[in-house]
Amino acid sequence: TTDPLVLFTPSGKRGHFPVGTPVLTAARQLGVDLDSVCGGRGICSKCQITPSYGEFPKHGVTVAEAALSEWNKVEQRYDDIRGLTKGRRLGCQALVQGDIVIDVPPESQVHRQVVRKRAEVRDITMNPSTRLYYVDVEHPDMHKPSGDLERLIEALETQWDLQDVKADLHILQSMQPVLRKGDWKVTVAVHLGDEIHPPTIMHIWPGFYDGSIYGLAIDLGSTTIAAHLCDLQTGDVVASSGIMNPQIRFGEDLMSRVSYSMMNKGGDQEMTQAVREGMNTLFAQVADEAEIDKALIVDAVFVCNPVMHHLFLGIDPFELGQAPFALTSSGALSLYAKELDLEIHPTARVYILPCIAGHVGADAAAVALSEAPDKSKDLMLVVDVGTNAEILLGNTNKVLACSSPTGPAFEGAQISSGQRAAPGAIERIEIDPQTKEPRFKVIGSDIWSNEDGFADAIATTGVTGICGSGIIEAIAEMRLAGLLDASGLIGSAEQTGTSRCIADGRTNSYVIWDGSEEGGPNITVTNPDIRAIQMAKAALYSGARLLMDKFGVDTVDKVILAGAFGAHISAKHAMVLGMIPDCPLEKVTSAGNAAGTGARIALLNTKARTEIEDTVRRIEKIETAVESRFQEHFVNASAIPNSTEPFPILNS
Ligand code: FES
Repeated sequence: TTDPLVLFTPSGKRGHFPVGTPVLTAARQLGVDLDSVCGGRGICSKCQITPSYGEFPKHGVTVAEAALSEWNKVEQRYDDIRGLTKGRRLGCQALVQGDIVIDVPPESQVHRQVVRKRAEVRDITMNPSTRLYYVDVEHPDMHKPSGDLERLIEALETQWDLQDVKADLHILQSMQPVLRKGDWKVTVAVHLGDEIHPPTIMHIWPGFYDGSIYGLAIDLGSTTIAAHLCDLQTGDVVASSGIMNPQIRFGEDLMSRVSYSMMNKGGDQEMTQAVREGMNTLFAQVADEAEIDKALIVDAVFVCNPVMHHLFLGIDPFELGQAPFALTSSGALSLYAKELDLEIHPTARVYILPCIAGHVGADAAAVALSEAPDKSKDLMLVVDVGTNAEILLGNTNKVLACSSPTGPAFEGAQISSGQRAAPGAIERIEIDPQTKEPRFKVIGSDIWSNEDGFADAIATTGVTGICGSGIIEAIAEMRLAGLLDASGLIGSAEQTGTSRCIADGRTNSYVIWDGSEEGGPNITVTNPDIRAIQMAKAALYSGARLLMDKFGVDTVDKVILAGAFGAHISAKHAMVLGMIPDCPLEKVTSAGNAAGTGARIALLNTKARTEIEDTVRRIEKIETAVESRFQEHFVNASAIPNSTEPFPILNS
């Protein structure tokens, strides 16, 4: 053929096209991922491309041997109004004139990748549930009577190849004036449907709608609820916010909330209502922050533990409070937001990830989606540390999961000077092995306690307590400095040679900070504090160890610490305590809020939803409560670091 050759990068797709073919048409025929909302009418500018080889006319400059047609009026108009990045053309306007290589920049790809911050994780591929389409609808005609909706649906089929589109009732109620106002040109948001629901028109705007539509990724935790508001066209997070879970007033932890519902008639409904109201406050907050109308939020993805899951859905969590911990349903759920009283778009959809087991919730599924142990060649241990540790161990062969009852000690609860991570809390600590003197940093200040300017740095916050990561470091440092024996007992002043060790009933305590001069509290580590952490870390370690037994291994290749706590904890100190199995320190990394990231992936990429549903079906669930080896490991793991397990890498 003598037709010009058109080659697209980065896909590498190529073909010959007659002179005069619009680039968008060539892209569509080759299956190249080039975005368009207006269908080639030169309105949306989503189709921008960069001619990367071959000569082409730029911004009004005409080149005789142009491989693309000249810059045209439509592009000029767009450039005048918005400014087209230099070298870019609108793919629907530029016509092929000769052999050419055309680059499709990431912003112009429908399935563009949203870059994630951590280098070692896969990026998110955009494939949202809902997309915008601009259509030209046929005018009504008395000779061919048909409904406005039928003509709109026909337009979506002929112009966008969307089959069997339905419309929600509120669209019928509002569409006639919109169609007329837009002179029969409208933009519609279509939810592309899922296994249960057909593609559905969710919203309609007159003419070309220049704005975006949004989705929420929500991590519903027992303590906090965090939401990311994402632009469903670009994948960008446009606002993030968090609130305390209002259910806290019914009980600090999960079990106390389950018992609240058992003891109080209608207690579960009270908690359901509280969490839903909290959600609406949070949604108003993020919409405000992004300065968008809440009604533009058309999709929401939730991840949560099983008890939160049931209470949010309005299901009594009674069965989750007792063996065999049966979930009402472990499957993923596709619902309407209004069924959950959520005040966003009137027909917004909600997707809730599947739960793995009675103790291992949709939040753990989200962690699995984010960290993808099932796609890792290396054997990966992922622990999401909260009041329950959710643990995944696996590689491409198989993935095992369990949860372990660590209790709230890691969050600073049950610790004499413990507090939540907040300004004033000690979060970092070092103890000099010679002098046994501590130095520390509190949240909200960058200055160590033995440095100049510390008093000024803490003038507003004070030193108020010690948070979860602080207590871990304190105990590990005490062990390293010889203040603490392997069984977890603090030595006396004589034994340790420091007056910071003081007698405290039958045991001893170590004084980190004498607050009396400042009028603040004394911050000490007591033996009961150490017991609480020993119990928590033994539970965590035993869960991990049990999964390793089941896998038939003694070591893992890497450890990923997820959750807000995991983000702050120091790998070295965690290993000194024996919280996690022995592993080279550089192979221990933090994933931050992996559950929240998993929610964001599921929001932006509906394919990932099917993927994780599949993965969760294949994950082997291990119930720690019925495993006698768990008890054995637990007893051994209460020592510091651990009485039976070797820690050769740690010791070297
Ligand atoms: Fe909308 Fe080109 S496809 S401007």
